[in-house]
Amino acid sequence: MAQVRDKRPEESKIEQIYHVRPEHMNGADRLFGGRLLEWIDEAAGMVAIRHCEGDVVTAAIDNLRFIRGAYKNDMVVVIAKMTYVGNTSMEVRVDSYVESLDGTRRPINRAYILLVAVDKEGRPTKVPGLILENESERAEWEAGEKRRQMRAMRKEEGF
Ligand SMILES: CC(C)(COP(=O)(O)OP(=O)(O)OC[C@H]1O[C@@H](n2cnc3c(N)ncnc32)[C@H](O)[C@@H]1OP(=O)(O)O)[C@@H](O)C(=O)NCCC(=O)NCCS
Repeated sequence: MAQVRDKRPEESKIEQIYHVRPEHMNGADRLFGGRLLEWIDEAAGMVAIRHCEGDVVTAAIDNLRFIRGAYKNDMVVVIAKMTYVGNTSMEVRVDSYVESLDGTRRPINRAYILLVAVDKEGRPTKVPGLILENESERAEWEAGEKRRQMRAMRKEEGF
């Protein structure tokens, strides 16, 4: 297969909008956290597929933070962007917001998802590089390197 070219984060970025419906609620009349997690994981997966142009699996979800709740009829915006790539792994930052009718966005969740590109047998395969274009992307990359070291330490400890 031809080698996939390096890409800019903007090329794989995703913005998805959901309407919170009754079937999305938990017993406390808020958006069920597991449902939001599904939307987050799905968005991160799409970004990773766009970046590597192949199959991916989610290896880990870390730094997931529920900041505020969302409620029935809220409009939830999920924005996912590639922040860091390793050899076969890709880190995607996913920010979720509730959007008001005037367009104001209030953050409700931030997560970093670690995905791995795999071949048809599920073996990790090399991913294209990430072309960083501005200061905020370079800062995310540096923070991504630190998160990678922390993940490696946790893995060593068997977590
Ligand atoms: C993810 C998976 C392919 C990694 O396999 P593995 O044998 O550990 O592969 P490797 O040790 O070569 O690691 C591959 C990459 O994943 C990273 N990785 C593996 N486990 C990780 C973890 N728990 N946290 C963070 N990164 C991890 C490694 O750092 C490596 O990254 P790099 O190539 O950029 O350096 C394998 O564990 C797997 O298939 N897990 C199940 C995935 C799944 O079913 N997800 C749910 C549905 S999508």
